Amino acid sequence: MSSIVRPLAIGDLTAAVPVVQAGMGVGVARSKLAAAVMRAGGIGCISSVGLGRLKESLENYAEESAEKLAVEIREARRLAPQGILAVNIMVALSTYHEMVATCVREQVDVIISGAGLPLNLPKLVEGSKVRLIPVVSSGRSLDVILRCWHRKYQRLPEAVIVEGPYCGGHMAFTWDQLKNPETVPITGILAEVKEVLAPYEAQYGRRVPVLGAEAIATPDDVVSMMAGGFDGAQVGTRFICTEESGIALASKQVYVKAKAEDIVLMHSPIGLPVKVLNTPLVQKLLRGEQIPLECPFLCLRSCQADKAKFCIAEALVNTMFGDVEKGLFMTGSAIDRINDIIPVEEFLAPLRRMAE
Ligand SMILES: Cc1cc2nc3c(=O)[nH]c(=O)nc-3n(C[C@H](O)[C@H](O)[C@H](O)COP(=O)(O)O)c2cc1C
Repeated sequence: MSSIVRPLAIGDLTAAVPVVQAGMGVGVARSKLAAAVMRAGGIGCISSVGLGRLKESLENYAEESAEKLAVEIREARRLAPQGILAVNIMVALSTYHEMVATCVREQVDVIISGAGLPLNLPKLVEGSKVRLIPVVSSGRSLDVILRCWHRKYQRLPEAVIVEGPYCGGHMAFTWDQLKNPETVPITGILAEVKEVLAPYEAQYGRRVPVLGAEAIATPDDVVSMMAGGFDGAQVGTRFICTEESGIALASKQVYVKAKAEDIVLMHSPIGLPVKVLNTPLVQKLLRGEQIPLECPFLCLRSCQADKAKFCIAEALVNTMFGDVEKGLFMTGSAIDRINDIIPVEEFLAPLRRMAE
């Protein structure tokens, strides 16, 4: 079984361990976590969301976010100079262009982009070596991306990430699908994605690796993902509960204590469903309470701040600082199997040995 775990090629780069650490905001995936993953042989990833100060950077939120991202990138490089470094940039970010430009300037290895269709990403990175990985949840959305990239830029992604219905973060599934996730098996999405990729792979003369993202709690889950036909996995929630992740210990403890029945589904202020833990803030929101908010700059383009019941960025910053009452705890479905805070190396070492 373990022989299916092999190194992962992303264009001209090869990761010893076929794991991409998910770029989780706000503050989970910063330089320390990314560097630990890079040092252990995986692909480390910095989240570009929420890096500017929320209230204090009124005038220059985009500029401040870009500066902070550059600092995180340089620090990750300093801590793990040999590793493969990615940055996750959600298409939904109002600072999308500035974040991409910063990655190009700082020469990150890979940009991972989802939460929308990254249709003009090849144009934004023109002239650089940065490798591109779109995140999709259906063959149809990959089809739209590939058609556009091929027609306008003659470009094929270096890899694709498929998020299944058991994953964390903003999800591109309907409420019904998320209530009945077994109706959308990730291997079914993989089959669609492979069908869409095949003609482009033939035309460009190269294979595009596909990574699966959902509910990875143990190294064996990565092995199972690969047994299902994926070339590797993107891992989110497991890495929240590591010594190196960027949120306060009090918040990590909320995650490790959580059980399956603590997961609830709610609409985020950008209208997409998110899975969250049933903490005091969520209980208030589910009772219909309004959490007072001021939004000076719209960090997410499609956020309906005037109608929103709360500010998701502020709630995630509260989690980063360990405010369990006011924080929002987004999670993947495997949280009930994640019961300890471990060093990143403990998760990745067995996979590295299998891939040798
Ligand atoms: C707290 C949290 C924050 C996330 N933030 C982002 C993000 O900023 N951008 C993104 O593309 N995905 C984000 N995701 C989704 C992850 O990238 C990943 O695909 C997903 O969590 C994988 O499922 P798992 O958590 O079950 O491993 C987030 C997920 C969590 C749990």
